[in-house]
Amino acid sequence: MAEKKIILTGDRPTGPLHLGHYVGSLQQRVALQDSCTQYILIADVQALTDNFDNPQKVHENVLQVALDYLAVGIDPHKSTICIQSAIPQIAELAVFYLNLVTVNRLRRNPTVKAEIQLRGFGESLPAGFLVYPVHQAADITIFKASLVPVGEDQYPMIEQTNEIVRSFNRIYKTDVLVEAEPVKAAIPRLPGIDGKAKMSKSLGNAIFLSDSTDELARKVMAMYTDPDHIHVHDPGKVEGNVVFSYLDLFDSNKDEVTALKEHYQRGGLGDVALKKRLIEILEALINPIRARRAEFAQDPSIVMQILHQGTDRAREVAERTMAQVRTAMHLDY
Ligand code: TRP
Repeated sequence: MAEKKIILTGDRPTGPLHLGHYVGSLQQRVALQDSCTQYILIADVQALTDNFDNPQKVHENVLQVALDYLAVGIDPHKSTICIQSAIPQIAELAVFYLNLVTVNRLRRNPTVKAEIQLRGFGESLPAGFLVYPVHQAADITIFKASLVPVGEDQYPMIEQTNEIVRSFNRIYKTDVLVEAEPVKAAIPRLPGIDGKAKMSKSLGNAIFLSDSTDELARKVMAMYTDPDHIHVHDPGKVEGNVVFSYLDLFDSNKDEVTALKEHYQRGGLGDVALKKRLIEILEALINPIRARRAEFAQDPSIVMQILHQGTDRAREVAERTMAQVRTAMHLDY
């Protein structure tokens, strides 16, 4: 039997996961966990790089994110869910990587550049934030992952990782480290309910997997449609209309969606009727996820046990790689 490919994915535990995560990565992880060796990292150390003054928030969301994973069908017998801060080998490896990266190179990383601007760090940019891509390189390589399923905004991280891998292997005359490639999500980015291109907690335009039936309905009812579609009989626009973007993704009856679009463009189809249809479809999707989430939430100690077991397993793998790294670097005292 061929060796299974190794996957490393992860999320910063800064809030519960939303539908954007679901279509962008969670579904894919559930699908890949049978054919690959998958590590899912709850990146609490990375979350602290811009939440260092709010450790309670990060702590609470470790459990929330784990509940979301289990609720969508990540199976702890197939995937290893682990907590970054409890695998100190990752931090150790990152320290060695820091010698192989220039400050200028980090400043040019497009993802970090955009995030620094977004957060308005200016002159008070924390060093830990600037170097988090180096830690991410350690996340990926310590597990010798060859596949990293991420959104396109994370591609510069993989590039930076592979530069480090090549430098390390060349300088220390080894082949311990493995280059990684991104795995593209099958489904494009999900827009926020406000029509902005990206769904995100910080933009306040997200539908969470943990939203109640009422919250879900309220958010769909508030969805951006066509601001010029004022009366039911007015012709409406389909492009940029979030309700149709979602129906395209989530409504399995494609013929009916096509018919609805034609009717909307002609005039005579109201937003409320459309939104009611979308609420039903999303509720059918989220309801079982919500129910499984509630079941696991009843006993957080079981969830913590799953995290501890996964982290123990991951730490053993990480320590094996670190032993090889230390040997390559003549640090095997
Ligand atoms: N940077 C990712 C995010 O912001 C989270 C993350 C941390 C990650 N380490 C990773 C993703 C390693 C993929 C691989 O969502």
